[in-house]
Amino acid sequence: MDGGYAEFVKARADMLVPIPAHLAAAEACTLGCSATTALHAARRIAPVQLGDTVLIYGAGGVGYALVQVCKLSGAQVLVVGRSERKLQLAQQLGADAVIHAGQEPVAETVRRLTGNEGVDIIFELVGTRGRLVFIGYSEDQLIANPLLLVIGELQILASVGSTQQDLLDAVALASSGKLRQVIDRVVPLTQVNETLQAVQRGEVAGRAVLQP
Ligand SMILES: NC(=O)c1ccc[n+]([C@@H]2O[C@H](COP(=O)([O-])OP(=O)(O)OC[C@H]3O[C@@H](n4cnc5c(N)ncnc54)[C@H](OP(=O)(O)O)[C@@H]3O)[C@@H](O)[C@H]2O)c1
Repeated sequence: MDGGYAEFVKARADMLVPIPAHLAAAEACTLGCSATTALHAARRIAPVQLGDTVLIYGAGGVGYALVQVCKLSGAQVLVVGRSERKLQLAQQLGADAVIHAGQEPVAETVRRLTGNEGVDIIFELVGTRGRLVFIGYSEDQLIANPLLLVIGELQILASVGSTQQDLLDAVALASSGKLRQVIDRVVPLTQVNETLQAVQRGEVAGRAVLQP
């Protein structure tokens, strides 16, 4: 408390996680709420297993971490986005294929890329088979056809936040170089308003870091 837009933040001592000296502060501070969310959703909720095909809808802070965590789990990873730069970053982080939502039909492309098999797990988007894991905070309505759910034995799941163990694991993975954070910019805290506007305009790929 009282929030992170300050020079000092009060935290419960037993919730603190040590950061190795060689892990840059800007990278470490972005692990919570991106890498931790991805670890929680991919390992505990989905869970992603060796050989799974995974579709990640949204190439951003959580999506980039999901790409890497799913690859570490031995999955084939497809990413849907709508900006070239953000999709290129997903590819650099290990995505097997990227789909530009504005330029190609997503469902058709997924079927083509998977030899008509579809995917096992979708993070965020409604699919036709497998497990759908909601991470995005959307107030959209989800209309589900129970018959199709039953026939496909579909599972709709939701994943919120993370545990302290997820944070410990995120720090360990980042520290050993297995998980890279995408940091668009590091700016002084005084530039908070301009930075939030840039986020709203969709200009920030991954995370922006405010430095007190
Ligand atoms: N459940 C939890 O515990 C938890 C934790 C953290 C975050 N979240 C939520 O999870 C969501 C993702 O978080 P984030 O930090 O990764 O956000 P982010 O960095 O803003 O990334 C979201 C990405 O989705 C893309 N996108 C948005 N609408 C799209 C569409 N219609 N088609 C294709 N791509 C689209 C955006 O790309 P463009 O800008 O190019 O459109 C952006 O790159 C947010 O709703 C966030 O609030 C939930």
